[in-house]
Amino acid sequence: MKTDLVTGAAGFIGAEIAKKLMMKGRRVITIDNLSTGIKEHIPENVIFIRGNTFDEHVIAELEQYEIEDIYHIAGQSGGITSYDDPVYDMDSNIKSTLLLLDYAVKHHCRSFVYASSMAVYGDENECPIKETDQVKPKTFYGIGKLASENYMRLYAGQFEVKCTSLRFCNIYGPGQNMENLRQGMVSIFMSQAISGRHIHVMGSKDRFRDFVYIDDVVRACILAANGCEKEKFQIYSIATNKKTTVEELIEQIRMSLPFEISVEYKGSTPGDQFGVYCSYDRIRENLGWIPETDLHSGIKKMTEWALNRR
Ligand SMILES: NC(=O)c1ccc[n+]([C@@H]2O[C@H](COP(=O)([O-])OP(=O)(O)OC[C@H]3O[C@@H](n4cnc5c(N)ncnc54)[C@H](O)[C@@H]3O)[C@@H](O)[C@H]2O)c1
Repeated sequence: MKTDLVTGAAGFIGAEIAKKLMMKGRRVITIDNLSTGIKEHIPENVIFIRGNTFDEHVIAELEQYEIEDIYHIAGQSGGITSYDDPVYDMDSNIKSTLLLLDYAVKHHCRSFVYASSMAVYGDENECPIKETDQVKPKTFYGIGKLASENYMRLYAGQFEVKCTSLRFCNIYGPGQNMENLRQGMVSIFMSQAISGRHIHVMGSKDRFRDFVYIDDVVRACILAANGCEKEKFQIYSIATNKKTTVEELIEQIRMSLPFEISVEYKGSTPGDQFGVYCSYDRIRENLGWIPETDLHSGIKKMTEWALNRR
């Protein structure tokens, strides 16, 4: 049976990729340290190795499997959190990539797909941002993602493995962690709205983001592993090319709820990017990917899920 490694399948995006791969009849292994993920989120029948992706003895547990594709999704996933412990962030977001690339080469894996972030861009580009625009991360988190991309570029250049880095914009949807109030703009606001009927926004209402629905992201990841590419190393923004301000997002959430909420703007967040939205022309041209779920219907689906799980 064809086997894939999806790191971080106890988390939001990893769990959805693992589910989709299993539906396609593949065997899935995950490594997760349950730092932000929840064991119960790991889809049934996924082989679970508990541990850090940056520990050699954990990676050694993969020796017994013949893995075809690696989806390296696990990682310290918050910009603010990267300030709490930059060394852990570095291990989690850089060393882990290096160890897994090494594994991929030694075991002749076919593809290596990586969960990078629009955090690599920083604040100085004009939107919509393209993959060729300058990268100037403002957080340790963004630095880690960019470093991982560079390791991938070197590995793809020197060895046989095909490497694709997907720079995710803001991903949202059912399954997102509603208890972690330090990452995920949509999940944070929705969680506050549902539990306290009040949203506290840290930062300006005019900041803007590019919100991508989870199903579109899963499709992009699987396409990236399977697609035929001219280049062995590729970078794609996973984006909608649409600008949504914080105020507009909150309005979408407000409209989707069956009760009234209040909103307060107070404080700020270190390293917060002011505004990002990205072009997805490159992945559309190379792999035919386009985002299919718009924000209005995506928020509606997520709200239904969030209200039902209470
Ligand atoms: N959600 C977004 O909007 C978004 C945007 C850009 C990039 N990303 C990236 O996508 C990936 C997945 O994000 P998510 O939203 O699913 O986050 P998440 O926190 O829900 O999932 C991350 C998973 O990885 C696990 N993990 C973290 N560090 C680990 C380590 N060192 N070893 C083993 N397991 C570890 C966590 O326990 C968790 O289960 C992350 O790498 C994140 O940086 C996410």
